[in-house]
Amino acid sequence: MRSFAGRDILSLKEFERNEFEHLFEIADRVEPIARERRNTDMLAHKTLVTAFYQPSTRTRLAHEAAMHRLGGHVTGFSDAKMTRAGDFYQESIKDTVHMLEFYGDVIVMRHFDQGAPHEAAKWSSVPVINGGDGWGEHPTQILTDLYTITKEMGSVDGKSILAVGDHRMRTMHSLGYALSQFDAEMVILAPEEMSPLPEFLAELDEKGTNYRIVDHIDEAIETTDVIYMEPVVQPDYTKARQEKQEVYARTDAKYQVTTEVMKKAKGSSIILHSLPRRDELLPEVDDSRHARYWQEAYNGVVMRMALLSSVLGVWE
Ligand code: CP
Repeated sequence: MRSFAGRDILSLKEFERNEFEHLFEIADRVEPIARERRNTDMLAHKTLVTAFYQPSTRTRLAHEAAMHRLGGHVTGFSDAKMTRAGDFYQESIKDTVHMLEFYGDVIVMRHFDQGAPHEAAKWSSVPVINGGDGWGEHPTQILTDLYTITKEMGSVDGKSILAVGDHRMRTMHSLGYALSQFDAEMVILAPEEMSPLPEFLAELDEKGTNYRIVDHIDEAIETTDVIYMEPVVQPDYTKARQEKQEVYARTDAKYQVTTEVMKKAKGSSIILHSLPRRDELLPEVDDSRHARYWQEAYNGVVMRMALLSSVLGVWE
């Protein structure tokens, strides 16, 4: 297995099965710290730098919470407009990263440009973690989600995962790449204009991801083990920010999960949603036995603890 110490986490494209398993094992080891709401001194002499060029609640704060749980320090920005990268100067990724690398020991970056964290990693002497890049990828979210499936269902293997929502979305890309390493089926459901790109499907073919495409949630709901959701009403991820709309489009019933739809689902099936949500997943489902998105959010802290401690060399 490749070492995690000093490694950039930019994509799940090249992640190997034993690397997923290794991170799941580390997550199990650090989980009691989060569960008991303790802060330790594991990373007492390390600092995380957050560089967020797009809004985030979970990804930035879960990384920050993870760093605090491990006794480390946090600095950074959550709005590039208040930095020289987002004002008159439009400072380049290269110049910005040549500053950030001196302010801490690991950088987590979210950016509206696909590939921006990869560009940052080229210039950074410290590890760079991709917190979501344009439509590109969202590796730490999918690591969290596969860890959640493992905890809730024993294994990712043998599962049929219905991925419903916008398939141009970065989570869907990381999911498709990751599932190539498991004996699982990816069932793709998206509105036509949000279908996976042919290039992406060609990559899945090449990597050996087992997938099929359906047109309506009713075609898969009875056989699926995991309903993995993304909104179909969402912002343009290539933009720094989109303001609140006066009127929002409504999610078509074909892509919506309701208590009525869940009556047709396997009793053991679970629903994951990386959140935020709109009306594709109604709050009426929150109290059902299927909902696991709050557990997923908790695991988001645990997985970031595993990742930060791993890239900062604790386990080697
Ligand atoms: N799931 C996720 O990436 O959420 P945020 O946009 O709030 O970070």
